[in-house]
Amino acid sequence: MSKRKRAAILISGRGSNMAALIDAARRYGFPAEISLVLSNRPDAGGLAFAAANGIATAIVDHKAFESRDAFDAAIGKILESTRIEIICLAGFMRVLTDPFVQKWNGRIINIHPSLLPEFKGLDTHARALAAGAKVHGCTVHFVVPELDAGPVILQAEVPVKEGDDEATLGKRVLTEEHRIYPLALKMLAEGKVRLEGDRVVKS
Ligand code: GAR
Repeated sequence: MSKRKRAAILISGRGSNMAALIDAARRYGFPAEISLVLSNRPDAGGLAFAAANGIATAIVDHKAFESRDAFDAAIGKILESTRIEIICLAGFMRVLTDPFVQKWNGRIINIHPSLLPEFKGLDTHARALAAGAKVHGCTVHFVVPELDAGPVILQAEVPVKEGDDEATLGKRVLTEEHRIYPLALKMLAEGKVRLEGDRVVKS
């Protein structure tokens, strides 16, 4: 097996997608290892799971920085010193600066709880319900400077069922998030998907 890629997961909260990535990366033959979990919030629930699984953790509290540039520079330093090759955003609720995103172009991915380009931003399940959507889902995409706009790597659809509320629909979507995010990381780490300009190329 060729050398495993060193991945960092950036979180802000619960970290269930992070846990799915950690679990997947533990399996034999997975082409990436989770080398770091970094949170911008000291109280992120996911930090404890990462630490309990023997993964290095870092907290970079955005409140301690005067600007986004300074915050991103601090994150960048840590990612460099831990020799990170791929960044997975997993419920990371900070907007990254354009220079940071451009530096990591093609090596930074995100999971979003909707079928992009539908429902960018927050409260995606409530908005899907309000719109009367019959189908909803999640997307793993390359991160580009524009928010929730990057080229799509994988999507999964779920039905919107009669009587669904935000919680029931969100749970159905989350199950799919946990399935496709590890798959997307696997594809990226083994070179089966890459970003060429603004297009996703699969091989
Ligand atoms: C997930 O549903 C993820 O798709 C979403 O936040 C949740 C984090 O949950 N991300 C975004 O909305 C990003 N725009 P988790 O911490 O349990 O993975």
